Amino acid sequence: MEHSYTTYFAEIYDDVMKNVPYQYWFRYLNDILKFYNHQPESVLELASGTSNMTLKLIELQSLNRITALDLSSAMISRAAEKLELKLQNNQDLNDFSFQKNTMSYFLQNEQRKLTIDFTAQNMTDFYFENKFDLIVSFFDSFNYLTDIDQLQSCFESAASSLTKDGLFIFDMNSLGRIRTIEEKSFVIEGDSYECFWEDIVNEKENLWQVKLKICPNNDELPCFEEIHSERGYKIQTILRLLKNSGFKAVDVYNAFSFAKGKNNSDRLYFTASLNKKRLQNNEGQLKKLYFDAKNRIDHLLVSLKYLF
Ligand SMILES: C[S@@+](CC[C@H](N)C(=O)[O-])C[C@H]1O[C@@H](n2cnc3c(N)ncnc32)[C@H](O)[C@@H]1O
Repeated sequence: MEHSYTTYFAEIYDDVMKNVPYQYWFRYLNDILKFYNHQPESVLELASGTSNMTLKLIELQSLNRITALDLSSAMISRAAEKLELKLQNNQDLNDFSFQKNTMSYFLQNEQRKLTIDFTAQNMTDFYFENKFDLIVSFFDSFNYLTDIDQLQSCFESAASSLTKDGLFIFDMNSLGRIRTIEEKSFVIEGDSYECFWEDIVNEKENLWQVKLKICPNNDELPCFEEIHSERGYKIQTILRLLKNSGFKAVDVYNAFSFAKGKNNSDRLYFTASLNKKRLQNNEGQLKKLYFDAKNRIDHLLVSLKYLF
């Protein structure tokens, strides 16, 4: 990761991303878990950013441990701040009382005890003493690993942190999407900043870069620049890297459906397991058709909402 996700960008990240339908992404994740009959007790979220999905993971009632990891300490601090604010204001958090020890939060209500840890680490090289039943990552964060060795190393760390019947679920921008992003520039006007956004695509390198120049509406603060780089990979490459890392079974979906993902799908969801039979165990054509139809309708409704 180059010069990106610095302190000020972490402050305005949620405002810049305010139209991202995280709730809908969470519904899809929930359906993937239901499809595979998975009720995780522990989850690790890689590249968790400012915790937009992490806070939704709390809704998974089977969980008693959530660990959120991100390379940017600015993003992870913002994530912890957001949780703390929600807990203090008792916002959507089922009357949890809590205690805190630096970046660990111990939540408790009548039904549950839940520990949430935030950690600033590189997802290309991490280790946890206790394994997780579920490892997730969202919003093309793995495309930020622009070197194939980084991706391999990330998958190896994930494999050694996952329980045998656990699931590793992540999304990626497909190769087709990265290659066909339209080069353009526009301005996002926030209440406290202006953000000049420029998309640059290097088709040969399968690389998409976003140059951001952010100017706070405060004459005392200077403008600053960030560069975000994402690389597109062929599905076959991802499958090979997962296999080399020890994953024995992988399903690839066209995002927000249960149809097979292709290199020209927009966004892909991968579900991987260390156990060869784990993904087959609970599959059934009818169940798949049901979840596919349900999520396609959901997708249509969410898209219409954004059109009008
Ligand atoms: C597009 S944001 C997505 C954040 C979050 N998943 C969300 O859905 O809002 C990409 C995130 O990846 C993180 N990131 C990039 N490279 C990373 C790395 N090597 N290790 C851990 N996090 C990384 C960035 O700091 C940033 O928070």
